[in-house]
Amino acid sequence: MSTADLDALIEQAQTQFAQSDTPAALEDAKARFFGKSGQITELMKGMAQLSVDEKKTRGAAINQAKQAIEQALQARRQALADAELARQLQAERLDVTLPGRLRQPGGLHPVSRTMERIEAIFSSMGFDVADGPEVESDWHSFTSLNNPPNHPARSMQDTFYVDIKDEQGQHYNLRPHTSPMQVRYAHQHVKKHAALNAAGKTIPDVRVIAPGRTYRVDSDATHSPMFHQCEGLWLGENVSFKDLKYVFTNFCKTFFERDDLVLRFRPSFFPFTEPSAEIDIQFASGPLAGRWLEVAGSGQVHPNVVRNMGLDPEQYIGFAFGMGPDRLTMLRYGVNDLRLFFEGDVRFLSQFQ
Ligand code: DAH
Repeated sequence: MSTADLDALIEQAQTQFAQSDTPAALEDAKARFFGKSGQITELMKGMAQLSVDEKKTRGAAINQAKQAIEQALQARRQALADAELARQLQAERLDVTLPGRLRQPGGLHPVSRTMERIEAIFSSMGFDVADGPEVESDWHSFTSLNNPPNHPARSMQDTFYVDIKDEQGQHYNLRPHTSPMQVRYAHQHVKKHAALNAAGKTIPDVRVIAPGRTYRVDSDATHSPMFHQCEGLWLGENVSFKDLKYVFTNFCKTFFERDDLVLRFRPSFFPFTEPSAEIDIQFASGPLAGRWLEVAGSGQVHPNVVRNMGLDPEQYIGFAFGMGPDRLTMLRYGVNDLRLFFEGDVRFLSQFQ
């Protein structure tokens, strides 16, 4: 084969490689040159018959042609691989300029915000924060609070009863108020300081709030069968209504973040306090200005209740209150329908974030 023939062979290979559009087609084309009976293979085989001199000249020329074809093959392989990569990149292209998919962050429910505020404010005044059961015994919900079975004051609350009876044969109930926590917490407190108590020494003041869920058979724009309450109790040797007034005024001013409000203690009745009072507040300005708004029940803890706590009512005296965080939330944010809090409508809830 002449040099010109070899050049033509190289050209032929380049053309065939260039026409191979896929790696498989390229491998077929390669076989035509380097396969078992490929053209280059045949030339190499033929070299065996050449003389030593011819091997030097012809052999070198054939080797050059072989290398040129290998190079062309390699270049085409690379070109096909590059094209394939470019195609893939194009197909799987990410538009990094697209805005990300925002994950809607959740937020605290407005009533939870109120609960947190109440806890923070009372904690700052030295109150403990206690948690208690929502399914409560008859004794804790009523009897221990000076409200015995068949007492007409029980009808103040339309209670949900549970189909389980306690040892006294009384039905458990979904607590209609957080007041049972007064007795539960005071009991624990007395137990904790039993040694002092037994030695006739004074135990530290009982000072606690107990926020949580409460239940009554009640449902309208201002009542929900599940609602929230926060109980407060301060008992000691020298705690009076004056302290209640101070603590509650301070709480209201801090909670509503304003000084232009006044409190009114309106005489009332609760079995567990004597005397008892509803606490009303009034703002001097703003949309609710001039209206008395009821925010809590309160009173001096009844001696029978103090006794049920395991304390001597001749020695320990104090006050209790029970307020409605739902109502406080309505007043703070100007919400006029309590049911909105419990419907889970994000259009309503997101306004508080
Ligand atoms: N437990 C009462 C209720 O649910 C509220 C209340 C009134 C709580 C007076 C008290 C209190 O601690 O002293 O209506």
